[in-house]
Amino acid sequence: MKLATATSLLIAATGSLQLIAAWPSATGNVKLSSPKTITGTFDCGLKRYGRGVTCKRGEGGQQDAVFILESGATLKNCIIGADQLEGVHCKGPCKIQNVWWEKVCEDALTILQTSGTTTITGGGAKGATDKVIQHNGKGTVHVKNFNVQGFGKIYRSCGNCKGNGGPRHVILENITASGGKVFAGVNQNYGDTATIKNSCGAKVSTMCEIYNGCDKAVKSCESPKLSVGFNGKTCINGGGNKDSC
Ligand SMILES: *[C@@H]1O[C@H](CO)[C@@H](O)[C@H](O)[C@H]1NC(C)=O
Repeated sequence: MKLATATSLLIAATGSLQLIAAWPSATGNVKLSSPKTITGTFDCGLKRYGRGVTCKRGEGGQQDAVFILESGATLKNCIIGADQLEGVHCKGPCKIQNVWWEKVCEDALTILQTSGTTTITGGGAKGATDKVIQHNGKGTVHVKNFNVQGFGKIYRSCGNCKGNGGPRHVILENITASGGKVFAGVNQNYGDTATIKNSCGAKVSTMCEIYNGCDKAVKSCESPKLSVGFNGKTCINGGGNKDSC
């Protein structure tokens, strides 16, 4: 079939053409016996990085990460393989550019910054049974031009971290998704916000969830879900969102 014909069929099938970047193929494989700590910029050159372990959920810590980014670090052009538990940890504001998680285990990206903004631009994540981006620190996370296939939540501000609090903010922009429902879960009681715009791939009316966060250092807890849907304050519809891509 000619490309023009295939493209026309795609437009006919979806009613519009949403541009979704193609997933890259790896140029090589690197197995790390301990996390690789990054200061400054590290370019993976589209090699696949892993830890040579089988995913076991609920057991990971920072020592199980593939990459640990120090404050201000940039990680780019990476493929994170299935053979890892914890993906990438950012200890301070970091930049993630064109990074692809082939199979998320516990979560893809854990954000620990005490303030500032982390940006994730381009790239994607597949097969997250739970969360893709876990925001345990504070400040802002800006995700742009990102593809997610199979997810519990794309982003969650921590529900029950020790010493939990906020505010935490997330902007999800031009996210193309499939195989999941919740783009963002945020805590109303800590002043968190989630702004979702120009994104598609799950029912717009249920993309965002509002919780009351709790502090498990005080007592063992799970954060209760208060409501589902945009309310203009905690969950903000930035416009241009669609149920399907
Ligand atoms: C949206 O993101 C995709 C990558 O997933 C990119 O190819 C496309 O150019 C982006 N669209 C805009 C308007 O930035």
